[in-house]
Amino acid sequence: MLSEETSAFGPGYPRAMPTGPAPPTPLGDAEVSAWRDEFPVLARRTYLISASLGPLSRRSRELAQQHLDLWERLGPEELWVDHGLPMLQACRERFAALIGADADEVAIVPSVSAGLSSLMTCFDLRERDKVVASDMDFPTNHYVYRANERRGLKLDVVASPDGVRVDEDDLIGRIDDRTLLVSTNRSLFESSWLMDLPPVVEAAHAAGAYVLVDDFHGSGVVPIDVHALGVDFLLSGALKWLMGGQGIAFLYVRRDLIPALEPLVVGWFGTREPFAFDRSGLHLRDDARRFETGTYAMPQAFTAAGGLDIVLSVGVETIRARSLELTAAVIELADEAGLEVATPRRAERRGGLVRVRMPGGRSQAEHILHALLERDVVVDQRGDALRISPHFFNTHDDLRRCFDALAALL
Ligand SMILES: Cc1ncc(COP(=O)(O)O)c(C=O)c1O
Repeated sequence: MLSEETSAFGPGYPRAMPTGPAPPTPLGDAEVSAWRDEFPVLARRTYLISASLGPLSRRSRELAQQHLDLWERLGPEELWVDHGLPMLQACRERFAALIGADADEVAIVPSVSAGLSSLMTCFDLRERDKVVASDMDFPTNHYVYRANERRGLKLDVVASPDGVRVDEDDLIGRIDDRTLLVSTNRSLFESSWLMDLPPVVEAAHAAGAYVLVDDFHGSGVVPIDVHALGVDFLLSGALKWLMGGQGIAFLYVRRDLIPALEPLVVGWFGTREPFAFDRSGLHLRDDARRFETGTYAMPQAFTAAGGLDIVLSVGVETIRARSLELTAAVIELADEAGLEVATPRRAERRGGLVRVRMPGGRSQAEHILHALLERDVVVDQRGDALRISPHFFNTHDDLRRCFDALAALL
């Protein structure tokens, strides 16, 4: 829940923040037209890549401007204590509300890589040294595990059978009594395959292992309830589906695990009394914020709070329904164009993006990406495929414009 204190956006903020309940009916093109004005880029470009970078909203821009105005006239005490720290707390609370956590189970970290690196320093690898992961994870996860190989970690990587999915049973089959962690992305960044997490959590916990979820492509677009699911750790960031800009990422830690986790990467903002300037010992906070370290990317908390507010205002259930409708339409358009879809067709397995392979392979995909950008159609490319990722504010017209442009280029 957002507290009264921190959901207020501070003095001088020019407009009321809608925080009402999510609309009860699914959004159609007509209903989203009011939201489209919130994202100026939509008037100029066919923006279909929220899986990579969510667009800047008027709300986030106004909040960024508010930060600059405050900075211009205030000293650090007023700027940080009265405005910046509450804004960071608003981000924690909003992200927690999105994933079914409590705010004190959420730390703000600079990136998923930084949060994961810090978390890994908490584990004594003499007892359990194995991490089970898959070859469809975002590589930064593996880089952190590889770095920990220097202190004995063993990374056991399950191969995808087809470059689209990862079978939960394959992950489960690798869990043994040396397994520290099963690490998975909830929505795979290339194919958008959604992992079925409950059996993984159940098997991992039965074997005494933890489950870590990289949710960068899930939070904000596919509902999740971390408490109900029982995952131990979850990482995500503000810049994609949450439309919050760079520099703010989140680490969720299951409440009962927090006291025993003592990161080696620390800083004053992770201590109980940062402003006591006490050098006599290290007294980490009792909540997940023990994973926070030095001075925050404070300006980014303003833009992140704006993006999170929009996602909460629309509601993740509503976003999910709209996303499924739009991604189904992308698949239909790709089929009509005779292009291969390398994303699950089944709704319950499909996340927020659709990967469409280009017949001429990687170099053609690169060429088409740039040609589309010149035509103001914004998508991105991984290997031989384009990733098309509509958010709730996109329309069927956006999709048609994208495929018309594609047809002219193929
Ligand atoms: C699933 C996933 N995890 C992590 C990252 C990168 O995280 P960060 O740059 O915050 O370390 C990305 C991509 O940007 C991603 O898609």
